[in-house]
Amino acid sequence: NWSMDDFIDTQIEAIRKQVGDKRVLLGLSGGVDSSVVGVLLHKAIGDQLTSIFVDHGLLRKNEADQVMDSLEGKFGLNIIKVDAQDRFLSKLKGVTDPEQKRKIIGKEFIEVFNDEAAKLDGIDFLAQGTLYTDVVESGTDTAQTIKSHHNVGGLPEDLKFQLIEPLNKLFKDEVRELGEKMGMPHDLVWRQPFPGPGLGIRVIGEVTEDKLEIVRDSDLILREEIAKAGLDNDIWQYFTVLPGFKSVGVMGDGRTYDYTIAIRAITSIDGMTADFARIDWEILQKISVRIVNEVGHINRVVYDITSKPPATIEWE
Ligand code: XMP
Repeated sequence: NWSMDDFIDTQIEAIRKQVGDKRVLLGLSGGVDSSVVGVLLHKAIGDQLTSIFVDHGLLRKNEADQVMDSLEGKFGLNIIKVDAQDRFLSKLKGVTDPEQKRKIIGKEFIEVFNDEAAKLDGIDFLAQGTLYTDVVESGTDTAQTIKSHHNVGGLPEDLKFQLIEPLNKLFKDEVRELGEKMGMPHDLVWRQPFPGPGLGIRVIGEVTEDKLEIVRDSDLILREEIAKAGLDNDIWQYFTVLPGFKSVGVMGDGRTYDYTIAIRAITSIDGMTADFARIDWEILQKISVRIVNEVGHINRVVYDITSKPPATIEWE
């Protein structure tokens, strides 16, 4: 009879046996999978694990700090945090095409990771949070190539490491169970899906720091209100998008000409198809009022009521 406790014990044994007294490198993304791998490996081999966390500046508000507080602060992982915000922004300057943005972010991510990894001596293994579904989908599923995802296949190819993929037989819900069993915080374990290119594909068109700030601030308000309404378990993914056009509004006795924020909130089983979440008008109104009042340069809020297909979940 399969049990998570047994899984943890046998994995720890297997990892210790495979690694011996060698060192392991892990790339942390802030997501569930790599975080769970980090905690599991740390349990197994302690300080023989070194993690690199690239902050590309496209994470949600406070997200980088939360990752560090939890994984370094609470679990004691040895993490090298790379503040690469400027590097990513300068590479994205003037770029408007979604696939181009994805490619640049993915490539830059690997380069920053490689630069850091090259500074470390005596690493033999690279750990990855590859899931069973990643393995299956990247092999066969053409739908995945509609947008190039860089979760799998983003391996630094010129680094000759042996791979450790302790989650590659698990489904997402099993990874979450594993995280909870190891005492990881609920928020981290139940984190909604977040794309590798992050907020870079939620600022439509050219990514600038000013626009990222608008998305970060509005996204935080949305998350706060969804949590307050107790909807975070019912809605599969929810976020804000900055389409980047301006429209006319009126505030006080003045005319405004400012940006629109779009709210995307969907229900789904696996992200392949999705339906827009039927959020209460009252809750949506509260979110709208807060975004217009608290986020600079927003005078209009719209709710995306398309399902997938024909729309995709992300706007880019
Ligand atoms: P779409 O927009 O294709 O999204 O309906 C389906 C799911 O995939 C996520 N997504 C991505 N994840 N890199 C990722 O790691 C990407 O480039 C990417 N694009 C979309 C999206 O957030 C949703 O959960």
